[in-house]
Amino acid sequence: LIAELAPKVLVGQHVLITAGPTFEAIDPVRGITNRSSGKMGFAIARAAREAGAQVTLVAGPVALPTPRGVQRVDVVSAQNMHDAVMESAQNAHIFIATAAVADWRPATAAEHKIKKDGSGVVPQMTFVENPDILAEVAHGARAQAGELFCVGFAAESQDLLANAQAKRARKGVPLLVGNIGPATFGQDDNALLLVDDEAAIELPRASKRMLAQQLVAEIARRVSGWSA
Ligand code: CTP
Ligand code: CA
Repeated sequence: LIAELAPKVLVGQHVLITAGPTFEAIDPVRGITNRSSGKMGFAIARAAREAGAQVTLVAGPVALPTPRGVQRVDVVSAQNMHDAVMESAQNAHIFIATAAVADWRPATAAEHKIKKDGSGVVPQMTFVENPDILAEVAHGARAQAGELFCVGFAAESQDLLANAQAKRARKGVPLLVGNIGPATFGQDDNALLLVDDEAAIELPRASKRMLAQQLVAEIARRVSGWSA
């Protein structure tokens, strides 16, 4: 699809997207993160923009250029991402959570670099759970009132359909998109499984750009006439 000819199915819509991993600091030079290149989320941001939407892209640490016309907010940790999303969600119409958010963060981040002391004793780490950004937005007032359509993603290593259906219910979202394995991290193509309250449909293997355009069309179709 040539961008200029893309149907402007999202004119007047504000689309909020999370993309990439989050990074949770252990100390000033170390942290834990998730595997995500951000490519799928960035492709969706581009496709939504080309479909006429106003697009806010909240991005964890990734090495990708900002799609033209997209407002990008760079964040590091899950907590940062949560705060940026909660602010933009107040006036968004569609929320698409593609980010690989770290589920846990170290309970405390050391102020200075943790040093080996030569004794062979390893540091002990305790974790606390990060906020579930998607679940919080999807259970929020605007989503419940039918003013904000929420889309979740799921990367599963097994039983994609069953896990995606369960995750859709748990997150409280009308549409859950599964990555059809094997691991697609960093690759330029993918295949998707779209699970809603009626069916599971497959978008067969294609470039992330093409899949993003198809997904945007599927979301636009559901948003017109959607109400929680
Ligand atoms: N998500 C989120 N905030 C989190 C964790 C996940 O917004 N703290 C979003 C992701 O962006 C994705 C969806 O929730 O759209 C599903 O993420 P996933 O990691 O697959 O689900 P979890 O509920 O974290 O369950 P688990 O990792 O145990 O499978
Ligand atoms: Ca998770």
